[in-house]
Amino acid sequence: MLNSKIGGIGYYVPERIVTNEELSKLMDTTDEWIVERTGIKERRYAVKHEESSTTMAVHASKRAIENAGITEKDVDFIIFATLSPDYYFPGCGVLLQREMGMNGIGALDIRNQCSGFIYALSIADQFVKTGMYKNILVVGSEFHSSNLDFSTRGRNVTVIFGDGAGAAIIQPTEEEGKGILTTHLHADGEYAEHLAYFNPGGHGGVFLKDTELYPDYGDEPEYGGMLVTHEMIDKGQTFPHMNGRYVFKFAVEKFPEVIREALAATDYEVKDIDMLIPHQANLRISQMIQLNLGLDSDKVFNNIEKYGNTTAASIPIALCEAVEAGKVKDGDLVCLAAFGSGFTWGSCLIRW
Ligand code: UT7
Repeated sequence: MLNSKIGGIGYYVPERIVTNEELSKLMDTTDEWIVERTGIKERRYAVKHEESSTTMAVHASKRAIENAGITEKDVDFIIFATLSPDYYFPGCGVLLQREMGMNGIGALDIRNQCSGFIYALSIADQFVKTGMYKNILVVGSEFHSSNLDFSTRGRNVTVIFGDGAGAAIIQPTEEEGKGILTTHLHADGEYAEHLAYFNPGGHGGVFLKDTELYPDYGDEPEYGGMLVTHEMIDKGQTFPHMNGRYVFKFAVEKFPEVIREALAATDYEVKDIDMLIPHQANLRISQMIQLNLGLDSDKVFNNIEKYGNTTAASIPIALCEAVEAGKVKDGDLVCLAAFGSGFTWGSCLIRW
């Protein structure tokens, strides 16, 4: 069977830099608090009405396609991971396809939030291995700032997220021992409501009747309707919800676990990793993973201080920056890992 490889990568971040200082003018927070708890100093925000998850993905995809030395015409499948799609439906995959003039090829949307890019890579890997496709465009793109709660009520979520996009071209490789060596995907829906965006949704409140997940949102949460109601908006229930401490606790456990799983599957050890690129959730999480694994700090790539958490886009943006900075070189063993909403988590080991 063929191995697949990342044949090209690209990323795009919006021009507008939003500092912690700027956020502290909108809500009760401080630069010190954000830096100490998350490591984030600034993030990028896309321009409303001009940019979207799709338009950012177009920029990143063009760069990935160029980097792979192919053209749009060579792309035979699209996989798009995002939690901030342009439309509730259809997904961003078809919009990206249209905007790039790649009409006719299949386009799949992935809804696995922070783990979206790893899930997308794994699917692309299977398609390439079986010989079904030869140039799959895999994208992670997020427009978080389009819907965050900029009041103090939403500060625990709002300060950590940023906008951006990353893309990769997945192709077959004939080089022995190179490319994507293994991928591992996991989920546990038991924890779905601990990091979620309930409305718009069609759940009609079925899962949320007795929950105390929204302590800050009043005693009688309005979840009963389809999609969005005036009451939901009035009560501020149309923003992402995160039980931060809970997510943190699971993240620091599941990241090392799934990284070790990828190593065990390929008979490698932690010491063999040349570069670990974790999903950029929180610098403290990355540091705890590093400590848990006993890796040197120069073997873990972090750029969260510049971009915040860009969810599905964070791994491809970080990978791209690591390659451009010469921190990922030909022949390196690169480990990608993610954890997030679902809960979902996963890892991918690549011989670059
Ligand atoms: O991408 C994958 C998914 N996401 C994650 O992996 C995120 C995981 N979680 C985290 O990164 C952290 O939980 C946060 C950074 C979100 C929060 O840090 P924390 O140390 O867990 O804080 P906390 O939520 O337990 O809140 C501690 C205090 C609270 O005040 P009281 O109740 O102690 O008075 C919060 O109200 O900090 C307060 N707080 C803030 N204060 C200033 C929460 N957010 C802020 C803020 N600025 N932005």
